[in-house]
Amino acid sequence: MEIVQLLDKKFQKYISSEEIDNRLQEIANQINEDYVNKDVYFIGILNGAFMVMSDLIKKVNLNCTIKFIRVSSYDGMKSKGAVKLLLGLDEELKGKHVVIVEDIVDTGLTMQYVCESLQQHEPASLKIASLLMKPEVYKGSIKIDYLCFPIPNKFVVGYGLDYDGLGRNLKDIYQLVEE
Ligand code: IMP
Ligand code: MG
Repeated sequence: MEIVQLLDKKFQKYISSEEIDNRLQEIANQINEDYVNKDVYFIGILNGAFMVMSDLIKKVNLNCTIKFIRVSSYDGMKSKGAVKLLLGLDEELKGKHVVIVEDIVDTGLTMQYVCESLQQHEPASLKIASLLMKPEVYKGSIKIDYLCFPIPNKFVVGYGLDYDGLGRNLKDIYQLVEE
C-alpha cells in the first residue's frame, strides 16, 4: 500500500518496515555493546511506543525488564503544550539502568516531563531511544541517545503512531500528503 486514507487525510508511504527493521538492529547492537554485563530497564511510553518496543527488545540480548507508562499531550494533530503523567511507575528504579523507549520526539515536552519524573527515582543511568524525531521543532535540551530516524516537520502515522487513534497497525511509516 503506497497511499492510505485515515478519516479526512491521505498519507503516503515514507519509511518501509525493512528500513525500520534494519535501523532497529543497528540501535540494538549499540545498546548490546553499551550495556554489556548490565541489566536494562526499558520503559516504553504508551500508546505509540508499543510496536517499536516489541521489535527493539527482540534484538536486545541483555537481561532486561520491560515496563510501559502512559503520558498524554496530543489532541488530533495539535500539541496541547502541557503534558501529564497518567499511569505512573509502581516500581523502584533506584540504581537501575533505564532506557526510555518512545515512538517520536516532537517538541520534546513529553520527553522532558518523563525524564524529569524518572530522574526523581534516582536511576543509575537514564538514556533515551526514539524511533523518530523532528529536529526542526525540538525545543528540549535532552540528548536523544538512540535515534532511528530524524524526519522533517510533517505529520506521520503507522508503526504505532496514530492520527486520532487510527493507523497504529500499519507496518510501515506514512507521511501526511498536503492537499
Ligand atoms: P512532544 O511532547 O511534542 O514531543 O510530542 C510527543 C508525542 O506527540 C509523541 O509521543 C506522539 O504521541 C505525538 N506525536 C508527535 N508528532 C506526531 C506525528 O507526526 N504523528 C503522530 N503522533 C505524533
Ligand atoms: Mg508517544
